[in-house]
Amino acid sequence: MATSLQSVIVLDFGSQYTQLIARRIREVGIYSEILPFNTTADAIREHQPKAIILSGGPNSVYDESAFMPDPGIFSLGVPILGICYGLQAIAKHFGGNVESSSKQEFGRARMLVSDNAGRESMLFRDIPDSDVWMSHGDKVTRLPEGFRVTASTENAEMCAIESFGTKAALKVYGLQFHPEVQHSLYGKQLLSNFLIDIAGITPDWSPKSFIEHQIEEIRKQAGNSTVVCGISGGVDSTVAAVLVSRAIGKQLHCVFVDNGLLRKNEATKVMEFLKPLGLKVTLADASDLFLDRLKGVASPEKKRKIIGRTFIRVFEENIHDEKFLVQGTLYPDVIESISVKGPSETIKSHHNVGGLPKRMKLKLIEPLRELFKDEVRAVGRELGIPEEILMRHPFPGPGLAVRVLGSLTRERLDVLREADEIYIDELKSSGLYQKVWQAFSVLLPVQSVGVMGDKRTYENVLALRAVESTDGMTADWAHLPHDFLARVSNRIINEVRGVNRVAYDISSKPPATIEWE
Ligand code: XMP
Repeated sequence: MATSLQSVIVLDFGSQYTQLIARRIREVGIYSEILPFNTTADAIREHQPKAIILSGGPNSVYDESAFMPDPGIFSLGVPILGICYGLQAIAKHFGGNVESSSKQEFGRARMLVSDNAGRESMLFRDIPDSDVWMSHGDKVTRLPEGFRVTASTENAEMCAIESFGTKAALKVYGLQFHPEVQHSLYGKQLLSNFLIDIAGITPDWSPKSFIEHQIEEIRKQAGNSTVVCGISGGVDSTVAAVLVSRAIGKQLHCVFVDNGLLRKNEATKVMEFLKPLGLKVTLADASDLFLDRLKGVASPEKKRKIIGRTFIRVFEENIHDEKFLVQGTLYPDVIESISVKGPSETIKSHHNVGGLPKRMKLKLIEPLRELFKDEVRAVGRELGIPEEILMRHPFPGPGLAVRVLGSLTRERLDVLREADEIYIDELKSSGLYQKVWQAFSVLLPVQSVGVMGDKRTYENVLALRAVESTDGMTADWAHLPHDFLARVSNRIINEVRGVNRVAYDISSKPPATIEWE
């Protein structure tokens, strides 16, 4: 841990919101690290945290095998805040009682701050009675000795508690609701009160301090070893590579595989924009190999498998004696919370670079794994990466292979490339590109009858897709203006040979997905 950053440890009990807690803490300007719930007090001490937060979790504290923190954390001399399950774990540890509630509470609830205790509490400074977000089936039914109630809701009389009197110096706090969720109106203020007023932390997290911290960490991790990074031309791998290169310079070697499934002139464009970023990049043109192997393949899953395997082969041919692999994994790529089974088991091996086999024995460097996409962009901006790169739409690893539906041929890929370039150019020149999460064209395995210059045509149908989303997990189709769609359709039908009909996809995810395959 860099000495310059004051940190908070979030102990993860398996909540779906753990990453959100970390994010809110960063929004307050403070660095945080998420550790498994069972991290020992000694291990936590080594991080020199200024505060500890216990997350929520799906279990019950009265279960026989309930997850409990190391009791030693309560003697570390730092303030502790328990959220939901975290509150219940605190209540149990200090001798209170937790039971299944006759009324479960999910969603919005009205929190009333207690007249005396609540108004006196530093945690509730400037927090009025307000709506909070609940998600619990258990509740505290007996207050532990040395604690007082500072807020309640209709179904949770002990909605907020804190150590008091002889135990006041422990500075232990608990909230039944989720302050990290936007619907808890004063949640961020509560976290700020806890971290800044109670724990006395000076906010010093920023993209700049994050970069300095990561540079130190990467240097420590890599030592003198060489490191390889698979570059895709996307935001995540570019930011990760530039960050690592700031740390270890020429020890980093990047490989950009042209799989023949990229957009029009993409390989040239990517190499162009990477040039001024100071990266050492090998362009591996393997398009023939990929396209030969994919010839005639129609099943989306078969396409993905072939692309994955071929990628590994090409990547292996282009690395030497590197010991580490950089991946631009982000938090949303981390499937579940890190805790419970331990990091190595539960982290998704995100296939940014195709999912490399274990035999390659490359250790991972994932400097962005704690961040959300907008935070990665902020880090990229601080690193001086141009806006044009940072604001690119996501592009799937299998590329256009999953956008030419059915059998793949070079000709069909070219038709798609031409049409897609028109669509994206028009989006950019109309100022709509940045307003959508992702936009692309899909070539359908369907032909339709048309009439052009008094002649019957029998050509391809192309679908346009544009979605709004915040993380790609759910998405709504973008309501692009009709005159815009008319212009794009007109241009594509007139300028791209082989397309005589354009359709616009109006499906949301779920039940559809963003890509068509
Ligand atoms: P879906 O189609 O599942 O896509 O709604 C969600 C997001 O993931 C991208 N995507 C992929 N990315 N390999 C990737 O690296 C893939 O096989 C893949 N399939 C979909 C998609 O573009 C969207 O951003």
